[in-house]
Amino acid sequence: MKRGLSAMIALAALFVSANAYSALNQEMNGLIEKFQKEAGIKAFSAEDGKKFFATKRMHSKGEERSCSTCHTADPRQKGKTVVGKVIEPMAQSMNKERFTDPKKVEKWLKRNCEWVLERECTPKEKGDFILYMTTI
Ligand code: HEC
Repeated sequence: MKRGLSAMIALAALFVSANAYSALNQEMNGLIEKFQKEAGIKAFSAEDGKKFFATKRMHSKGEERSCSTCHTADPRQKGKTVVGKVIEPMAQSMNKERFTDPKKVEKWLKRNCEWVLERECTPKEKGDFILYMTTI
């Protein structure tokens, strides 16, 4: 009886975490769990991720920068690099290759966060961003 109950709880927990990031594979779920541990929070916010993505910040070079500078205001659209190279849509609904490879995700997060914010993104910023991109 007791065993049945804990199995049910484990199943329920699985359902909740799988449900929040239903589109993510196992490796990516591992990365999300890492961000959750580092941030010390149980759930990320797509709403916060949306704000984070759109917020313009003044860079020390004197220009406004944001994630939307390259990925456009609507991440379901194609974007453009500063030299005009096309970037495929960031939203996973439009581009199934997005958020499938944790190494690629971490590499670009590091690079782009530094370009926009002049620092690395916090685990919460990263988790919120990925949740937003996988739910729109
Ligand atoms: C200067 C242009 C530029 C800006 C600004 C930018 N990115 Fe990107 N981003 C790129 C390019 C180029 C790629 C790699 C090409 C590709 O994957 O299509 C990329 C890829 C990514 C990826 C890889 C996703 C995957 O699974 O394929 C993530 C995550 C990402 N960016 C997050 C961000 C975040 C978060 C911000 C804001 C802090 C941001 N980017 C701002 C240009 C930019």
